[in-house]
Amino acid sequence: MGDLRCDAAIIGGGPGGYVCALRCAQLGKKTVLVENRELGGTCLNRGCIPTKTLLHTAELYDEIKNHGRELGLLFKGAENLDGLGVDYDALAARKDRITEKLRRGIEGLIRGRQITLVRETAVFLGPQTIGAGGDRITARNIVIAAGSEPASIPVPGADLPVVFNSDGVLSLKSLPESAVIIGGGVIGVEFAALFSSFGKKVTIIEMLPNILNGMDNSVCETMTGILKKRGVEIHRGAKLLEIGDLSGKGLCVYEEGGGRKEASGEIVIMAVGRRPSTKSLGLQASGAVLERGYITVDEGLRTTVPGIYAIGDITGKVQLAHGASAQGLVAAANIAGEGGAGRGGAAKIRYGVIPACVYTNPEIACVGLTETQVKESGIPYKTGNFPAAANGRSLIMNASEGFVKIITHGETGEILGAHIVAPRATDMIGEIAAAMRAEATIEELADTVHPHPTVSEMIMEAAHDVEGLCCHKL
Ligand code: NAI
Repeated sequence: MGDLRCDAAIIGGGPGGYVCALRCAQLGKKTVLVENRELGGTCLNRGCIPTKTLLHTAELYDEIKNHGRELGLLFKGAENLDGLGVDYDALAARKDRITEKLRRGIEGLIRGRQITLVRETAVFLGPQTIGAGGDRITARNIVIAAGSEPASIPVPGADLPVVFNSDGVLSLKSLPESAVIIGGGVIGVEFAALFSSFGKKVTIIEMLPNILNGMDNSVCETMTGILKKRGVEIHRGAKLLEIGDLSGKGLCVYEEGGGRKEASGEIVIMAVGRRPSTKSLGLQASGAVLERGYITVDEGLRTTVPGIYAIGDITGKVQLAHGASAQGLVAAANIAGEGGAGRGGAAKIRYGVIPACVYTNPEIACVGLTETQVKESGIPYKTGNFPAAANGRSLIMNASEGFVKIITHGETGEILGAHIVAPRATDMIGEIAAAMRAEATIEELADTVHPHPTVSEMIMEAAHDVEGLCCHKL
């Protein structure tokens, strides 16, 4: 057994762990990264990057198929675009190439920063010691960044071969003609957007009264309308009872409005949340405390055990790749004693300004509080809205169904939240997050000149609308 000693040992090489390792090394700490699969974690290998690669093609397909003629496109020799098809082998190969390229990039960064990469499963032997294959790693600080895995529900038939979780869907060798999606959360809605853009039949079965539960009502309503218009069947307040095999297809039996109903699809996608990957870590030997299965951490990402930190999905705080990376930077700053404004202070994560994105078509992006949350808190507030239908660039992009909505403090002008459904919403939300982080007022956002013609003008227009001074709206 090899003995390794270091300042920081990071367990898990996803967007939380590898970023934390890079920052620890940048701050002069001798760092070891332990990962038993590919670097990049769920995000790069089984999540964000592969799904967005598929979605990019789906959007192009949808736009050309449904708007090609109007856009002035023709294939040489063909009178129309009816012959347009999808070469899924080529698409899957592209997805794998992009993933591979990004993975090699991370490997290069890890090597370049002289981080020791141990490709094994890490198990705690004590609060400062972990075993990893034949190695015994003793570290002043340990960061647990082991992530999460898809959850399932204990209904009969949940383990049938037609039932896939998000990992399984991304490994499919061809596009299914139809899919029933259990769960209308982020993953369910992203897959619904993907398959419906490819012209496939999609049914969503969601237990709660709304899809995208927790998001601003305006977002839920708009996206429900957009998906329904695209032919997606959405059953809300619907509880899955069992899954059966109907000649190789999945038959989902569910309860809705007191009645027993059925929906079938070539595949069934289980998208009912993710659970923390705490099982194989030997956490008892670490002494770290769990709360509802997640590792308890403070704002500095410290667990209850000195020298042990936890970041990413395993903390249950924010199940987003960029949230995990942000947590990783905070943990690294605290390990190196480089946190806080004057350095040497304690770094803290600011969850309130981490944007959330859903990669549908058009995209959804949000930051801060929803209108319901603001209303319930009793804060005096104002809202400003601007519809995509009045934005030139959105019309050019065939996306007139979205909007930008900004919520501000009614007296101070502090920006409390923003909710966007629009093309490139996920690229735009960073601007509002930066404004909130810098504690800018709505007047300052409205005064910021936005380039024309862009989708981002909608932010400026919505900011003007908060004061009832939007020029492009009556
Ligand atoms: P989720 O928690 O967002 O949604 C799960 C949905 O399943 C909920 O709406 C829930 O009510 C429903 N559900 C649970 N049991 C059910 C049942 N028996 N019958 C019908 N519906 C049922 O979880 P999801 O979508 O699986 O995503 C997991 C995590 O991954 C999320 O926290 C998400 O933030 C993250 N993620 C983020 C992405 C992004 O930022 N673009 C992309 C993919 C995942």
